[in-house]
Amino acid sequence: MATTLTITDQRTKRGYEMPIRDGAIRAMELRAIKEDASDFGILSYDPAFLNTASCRSAITFIDGGRGILRYRGYPIDELAKHSSFLEVAYLLITGELPTATELDGWTADITSHTMLHENTKKFMDGFHHDAHPMGILVSTLAALSTFYPDARQVGDPESRALQIRRLIGKVPTIAAFAYRHRLGYPYVYPDNDLGYAGNFLAMMFRMREARYEPDPVLERALEVLFILHADHEQNCSANVMRSIGSSLADPFVASAGAAAALYGPLHGGANEQVLRMLRDIGDLRSVPRYIESVKQGERKLMGFGHRVYKEYDPRAKILKAIADQVFEVTGRNPLLDLALEVERIALEDPYFVDRHLYPNVDFYSGLIYEAMGFPTDAFTVLFAIPRMTGWLAQWQEMLLDDEQKIARPRQLYVGHDRRPYVPIAGRAAMTRERQGVPMGG
Ligand code: ACO
Repeated sequence: MATTLTITDQRTKRGYEMPIRDGAIRAMELRAIKEDASDFGILSYDPAFLNTASCRSAITFIDGGRGILRYRGYPIDELAKHSSFLEVAYLLITGELPTATELDGWTADITSHTMLHENTKKFMDGFHHDAHPMGILVSTLAALSTFYPDARQVGDPESRALQIRRLIGKVPTIAAFAYRHRLGYPYVYPDNDLGYAGNFLAMMFRMREARYEPDPVLERALEVLFILHADHEQNCSANVMRSIGSSLADPFVASAGAAAALYGPLHGGANEQVLRMLRDIGDLRSVPRYIESVKQGERKLMGFGHRVYKEYDPRAKILKAIADQVFEVTGRNPLLDLALEVERIALEDPYFVDRHLYPNVDFYSGLIYEAMGFPTDAFTVLFAIPRMTGWLAQWQEMLLDDEQKIARPRQLYVGHDRRPYVPIAGRAAMTRERQGVPMGG
């Protein structure tokens, strides 16, 4: 079996052998291909990283063509069926599922970091009452960097382990405080006797009751949602986490950057957009017209399509089943019928079939969140809570990888060649000339 790629440079007629490893050639090998000694060598050009592996990773495996997703080798559906979120978090961070003793220790560790410094609350109070919870989350994560200057010791394994526990422990508390701030409700402190998802529900929804008892079906549904969202290999926000982390910035500011990337409507912000889209569509009769406008390029069908999955997103399949369980408790979300109709029509339409556009994880998650009582603009925060674990696993792996350096892509410069400086008095005439206005005009 060939283990090399042979390239012939037609400019020089020279041949090059490039080793193929794990189905890839190293882009740096291309630099040897030069016209002459003064030539920089060939670059690979790949806007938006469509065909570039930026790292070797042992965390998450996706086969987008076959709809497969595994964390550390374990299929996502088995983890969703049998594990708790903190078990999965341990798996992602350490590489192995915990024993019962390890899980107890890990759970105690994480829950001992759920509190926020009181000054954080004051800081959060400064946000306007209608501030988007993602804006609050991004800013508060960055602000935590100032509370934990020890987090800058990114080369120290003990410090790294501590920051990982702090961030996994604190992110639900920040998310819940952001929500309560918006409603003007008093903040609810963590209840460490509850599980990770149950405690989050309590911090969100507890009112005057002495103790909040989460509904077990809803608590388990949220736990599964957290598991499904925990990591997704080199997605936009994980790439930002690695990129910021590669400058050796601390994980609080790096995860603030990752959360900012998640906020965008093409990434984690899509779950919020799906609900807005379904409300816009309004009724079943309007679905075909809406799909037609998508096909005309007037808008995108939110919650559809994926850079990697060219098959049904395996997470969306699990979510459809979870939706039924949740709706048995909360009552059926009336938008579900609209979502099912959108999916039915889209999956039969050649526009979507030919482009391999299927529902992604965001298509059904918003309907479940809404039925559980979460406001629409909190949906992306619900994504960020579990994804924090994935970001941290990716960050740690990047720091421990000897091959990684500061992330710094190249560019193909397509701007002006050297040109003479124009003094300010001459610029108006130049602008007119550029716009084709006659000099006297
Ligand atoms: N609706 C309509 N057409 C679509 C959609 C969509 N949701 N997604 C892709 N297409 C079309 C594109 O217009 C393009 O068509 P063309 O070949 O005629 O130009 C073709 O399908 C290929 O799409 P790309 O944009 O090249 O795919 P890319 O991998 O760059 O984008 C993305 C992936 C951003 C997820 C895209 O599918 C999209 O915008 N989806 C809607 C937003 C969304 O749901 N995002 C959540 C993703 S999952 C997550 O981040 C957790």
